[in-house]
Amino acid sequence: MPEDFVVTPWEVRGKVDYDRLVEQFGTQRIDAALLDRIRRHTGELHPLLKRGLYFSHRDLNWVLDEYEKGHPFTLYTGRGPSSAMHLGHMIPFFFTAWLQKHFRAKAWIEITDDEKFLFRDFDTLEDATRVGRDNILDVIAAGFDPKLTRIFLDTEYIHHLYPMAMNVAKRITFSTARAVFGFDASNNLGQIFYTALQSVPCFLESVEQGHNVPCLIPCGIDQDPHFRVTRDIAESLGFYKPALIHNKMMPGLKGLDSKMSSSAPDTAIFVTDTEQQARTKIRDAFTGGRATVEEQRRLGANPYICSVFAYYTYLFAPQDEHLAEVERTCKSGERLCGDCKAELADHVVAFLGNHQERRERAKDRVEEFVVRD
Ligand code: TYM
Repeated sequence: MPEDFVVTPWEVRGKVDYDRLVEQFGTQRIDAALLDRIRRHTGELHPLLKRGLYFSHRDLNWVLDEYEKGHPFTLYTGRGPSSAMHLGHMIPFFFTAWLQKHFRAKAWIEITDDEKFLFRDFDTLEDATRVGRDNILDVIAAGFDPKLTRIFLDTEYIHHLYPMAMNVAKRITFSTARAVFGFDASNNLGQIFYTALQSVPCFLESVEQGHNVPCLIPCGIDQDPHFRVTRDIAESLGFYKPALIHNKMMPGLKGLDSKMSSSAPDTAIFVTDTEQQARTKIRDAFTGGRATVEEQRRLGANPYICSVFAYYTYLFAPQDEHLAEVERTCKSGERLCGDCKAELADHVVAFLGNHQERRERAKDRVEEFVVRD
């Protein structure tokens, strides 16, 4: 049966059925026992974990087994600099910074200017690199510890990546790449090779330390195909398979099956948006409201199809009591969509104000985080 949704590293379309995706991709669900196990190390659980938005993993139990035996793990995540970052792009960075804090883990962060040049319409590679440098400010602003964090742009750090990328690339056939990514004769050579460069950072800590170090990758589930390939070849290179923890894709503002798109700015809040832009986008967002106020007061609204409620759930109601109150008053009809949007807009504007301040301060801190040589 053809799927009514698509999830690849370069395209997410339709209303994603995450249960089916776990089956298709062959990952594991994060269950209550695993949440308890994480909680033993972190105290509180991150809201994204508690709410099932980090929902899937590969080998996370093994990473914790090793950690409990005294073998720390390294974290690895990344960003493909296509434009200013939207709130969805920030999610893995907030979560990785949280993991870093609780596990005192080193984090490697790859900025793939090469990827975005190869896959998007940048006229020049320099344009992609420039966006990459700008996105680094947002990554720093997510709260990483400079002593434990290495951020690099692929084009600047390539001399550390290339020899290992050769070893990875030699082990992946075109037929595998075609089966995993759906490439055809129209793809350029760089696109076909690119997955080697996303694989290499899984092994950088092991290379640096001279012995095998477990690597945990927090990322959106859309990035999993790259690491399925990496996991297949890791052991033949003498490394552990990287482990993963996957988040769901935060929906766009036009409904739960809408996508946040850099090319359609009103579908997402970008971290560089002005207060006015953010308020207008939220005012025009899709909700689960009724046709008239009278009907909504009488019958209540539906938060489970509502983009605005999704925004509360992902980022803007970190306290469980607050989220429960939004949900309850929405369903009962006490809360009207206009008021609910205005409240969300206040939270978003406060978030953007803080983030943009941290982003400004990050301009003086780049050298603490970015590695080149
Ligand atoms: P990119 O720039 O498309 O996305 C950056 C990270 O954000 C996740 N993401 C989302 N999460 C929640 N809701 C959304 N709507 C949403 N949209 C994107 C992505 O899954 C990703 O984790 N090729 C990568 C860059 C990369 C990378 C990595 C990512 C290089 N190495 C290692 C993760 C791990 C990319 O273009 O991501």
